[in-house]
Amino acid sequence: MNMDELKRQAAARALEYVRDGMKLGLGTGSTAKHFVELLGEQVSAGLKVIGVPTSEATRADAIRCGIALTTLDEIDRLDLTVDGADEIDPDLNLIKGGGGALLREKIVAAASDRMIVIADDSKWVETLGRFPLPIEVIPFGLAATQRAIGHAFAECGVSGPMVVRKRQDGHVFVTDGGHWIVDAHLGRISQAKHLAGLLTAIPGVVEHGLFIGLASTAMLAGSQGIRVVERR
Ligand code: 5RP
Repeated sequence: MNMDELKRQAAARALEYVRDGMKLGLGTGSTAKHFVELLGEQVSAGLKVIGVPTSEATRADAIRCGIALTTLDEIDRLDLTVDGADEIDPDLNLIKGGGGALLREKIVAAASDRMIVIADDSKWVETLGRFPLPIEVIPFGLAATQRAIGHAFAECGVSGPMVVRKRQDGHVFVTDGGHWIVDAHLGRISQAKHLAGLLTAIPGVVEHGLFIGLASTAMLAGSQGIRVVERR
């Protein structure tokens, strides 16, 4: 089974947690896109839900699939968010933002009673950090912000190159919020929670891709089937 089929299987499993009338956070990325498509099929069959998309790409997908949308200005809490991840550790801490939507993804996850993360099992790691950590920054004063990020890394015993994310055409990647992303190649982040706090405190850092304590359940699809992991 190829990776894309595994992603779709994980998405299908998460769909089993959706109930009529739910308010849903809709994630971003290729795995979350499967979820949106499968949800759209259920909506066509009569399921009534309302969604908050975590990116303009997901908004367009959801509209195409006939899913009713709202915003966090119009409703209070979400019942459930289903989203992908770039890495998942045994405490269900995550690295997210490979698709550049980490800011809205974190706002939506934090407004949800439950977050289910869906992935193929290659995303499971013992320690976060092999995937470059996305950090969303304000372009103004970038060098100063990067120096402060470097100090935070040093305090947590990690280091590595920081690369401003570019699109395939060579232009700087700009997020839906109009910010840039610095990808930090750290290798291994042993103090993820501590680092998350330090990064959040840096002026110029809008958000970072460490999702600590937000996911409650992970659905990991592999060749042996789907493993469901609940947060300890
Ligand atoms: C987007 C994300 C995605 O969830 C993450 O990059 C995983 O993507 P995919 O499902 O395509 O592997 O965080 O910002």
